[in-house]
Amino acid sequence: MTLTAQEFAFISGLVRRDAAIVLEAGKEYLVEARLLPLARKAGISTVSEFVNRAQHRPEPEIHRKIVDALTTNETSFFRDNEPFTALTHHILPDLLRDRASTRTLRIWSAACSGGQEPYSLAMLLQDALPAGWTCDIMATDISSEMLAKAEAGAFTQLEVNRGLPAPMLVRHFERVGAHWKVSVALRNVVTFKRLNLAAPLPPLGTFDVIFVRNVLIYFDIETKRSVLGQVSNLLRPDGWMFLGSAETTIGIDDRYERVVAGRASAYRLRAGLKAVPASAPGKG
Ligand SMILES: C[S@@+](CC[C@H](N)C(=O)[O-])C[C@H]1O[C@@H](n2cnc3c(N)ncnc32)[C@H](O)[C@@H]1O
Repeated sequence: MTLTAQEFAFISGLVRRDAAIVLEAGKEYLVEARLLPLARKAGISTVSEFVNRAQHRPEPEIHRKIVDALTTNETSFFRDNEPFTALTHHILPDLLRDRASTRTLRIWSAACSGGQEPYSLAMLLQDALPAGWTCDIMATDISSEMLAKAEAGAFTQLEVNRGLPAPMLVRHFERVGAHWKVSVALRNVVTFKRLNLAAPLPPLGTFDVIFVRNVLIYFDIETKRSVLGQVSNLLRPDGWMFLGSAETTIGIDDRYERVVAGRASAYRLRAGLKAVPASAPGKG
């Protein structure tokens, strides 16, 4: 049975309110496919009935699961490659020079999905940082299920086949049953936290490099602007931000300038910016 317009409006309103994700008309098939497993788990045979139950007997945990199910978590190790190459060859040399007094780097993977992005960053840094340096990687996502997977650090053969070079697999992972488990050394430099980018962010400190990749595409322009504004407050004045290849700040937030770093585009703050006050359309 297909969803009625009213049922679809309830789900798209919920996902918009809680995660700022825009589900346009025509995405009914996506809602049905993503919610069917939740309905079945709850012992309900149709998505329609499950949605009605969620609407008339609101339970925060069910709403959270619905939002989780409607996030798109596509990711891979070293996704698109170029941002990681740019970080290694164009950005790290400057950071190693400019942070020589503290010998510490702070990186944020702001929509980390199942963990491939923050672990890629951790491997890259572990291999590139000179002795005596430390890095601290914060990895956040709105999806509790993705965060649990990322924290577990266990990947299937299919997942490691996507983007992870064999020498890195050997160096940083251990085979445990059917999975590849990330090393303790790598796991120890990454901290995971649930965070809604569309809500006012808690104090997180500032970062040398921020990856906000392949998440702005799900938001409307006001939310993109609000997220970029919040990120600008957390990026060190000489820090670097990376977006997904289909994303840009151009026409949305002119505090950033796009810089070519090798074959990737990175973003830096223009000099003399004022902090952006927190204002966000979503909620935490
Ligand atoms: C397509 S994945 C991108 C993963 C990774 N950054 C990459 O480029 O491979 C998008 C992620 O954004 C997360 N997401 C969606 N809306 C969010 C929000 N409002 N706040 C934080 N994360 C969000 C999803 O849960 C999902 O894991």
